[in-house]
Amino acid sequence: MIDSYGRTITYLRLSVTELCNLRCRYCMPEDGICKKSHEQMLTEEEMICAVRAAAGLGIRKLRITGGEPLVKKNILSLCRKAVQVPGITEVCLTTNATLLPELAAPLKEAGVKRINISLDTLNEEKYRYITRRGDLSQALSGIEAAVSAGFDKIKINAVLIGGFNEEEIPALAELTRKYSADVRFIELMPMYDGGEFGPDAYIPCERVKEVLPDLQELDPDGGVAKLYTLPGAMGNIGLISPLSRHFCGSCNRIRITADGRIKPCLHREAEYSIKGLKEEQMAEQIRLAIERKPQWHGELSAKQRSCAGRTMNQIGG
Ligand code: GTP
Ligand code: 5AD
Ligand code: SF4
Repeated sequence: MIDSYGRTITYLRLSVTELCNLRCRYCMPEDGICKKSHEQMLTEEEMICAVRAAAGLGIRKLRITGGEPLVKKNILSLCRKAVQVPGITEVCLTTNATLLPELAAPLKEAGVKRINISLDTLNEEKYRYITRRGDLSQALSGIEAAVSAGFDKIKINAVLIGGFNEEEIPALAELTRKYSADVRFIELMPMYDGGEFGPDAYIPCERVKEVLPDLQELDPDGGVAKLYTLPGAMGNIGLISPLSRHFCGSCNRIRITADGRIKPCLHREAEYSIKGLKEEQMAEQIRLAIERKPQWHGELSAKQRSCAGRTMNQIGG
């Protein structure tokens, strides 16, 4: 479907749970979130029904997100069913990788094509700090498991945080020589104002280019990242700049949250409920959400926080 600004919407990000086994400081509060009652959340049937309704309106790519999608008990069954929805040509998933040692192979078997992995540091102590509890070795084993399982291009996402991982830009970029995977640096989006990262933590993606002068620019691949490569690397370096150079003009996506709200824009408060609806009614809500998708996310900068009205784990990025 084409929205009112001429953008063709083909990509659905479906958050299947708000819960996570980590607590990344830029994403969610330490004590987790007040767990919503089971009845408030979409059931597996409703999620698949929503994917069917979306596919009927032209959605082709589905990305499963969270919270952490792999903490969801029925994740494999969900993926298997989503892969079979007519019209969906690619099911992908974004994860923190800690559960991939057990789940990479079954996810591949379920038909998931691509996996994106969050990894902000290669230092054990810093990893524990940023995730408030995680074990770096588990995430690294998860990356190895994803590589062994043979997914199409794996992408590693590192959020740039001043005073935290700025010195690690070269080491993270080196992963593109170790693995046939892309490494993408993401500008920190100011979502959650209870966190400790203020304006000083913002690093524009341009900094990556300063630190890595050997980067060679590549043609765009249609995603949110500007692409580069390091000489001799197997994977690309991507720069995702939601603050310094937003990409709303070519946005092709909508989101559905685990509690059944369509979000036409990540940084806007507007939401359209599909909880408890039948497929045709869901399709009507999706159509409305696409028709009313805003032109851009509005002012967003290191000082001007997001108007999303939710923390990142409640949206899925
Ligand atoms: P590909 O299918 O590989 O292109 O994945 P993706 O980049 O769309 O998904 P991923 O979950 O890896 O997200 C990468 C980063 O981009 C995350 O930090 C997201 O929050 C951010 N992102 C994705 N879509 C949008 C968007 O529409 N607006 C903004 N501002 N950020 C986005
Ligand atoms: N700013 C930028 N990226 C974020 N992510 C989560 N919160 C933020 C934020 N505030 C990233 C995660 C994950 C992806 C889905 O979104 O690191 O890779
Ligand atoms: Fe969990 Fe991902 Fe949020 Fe970290 S960024 S707390 S891994 S959902």
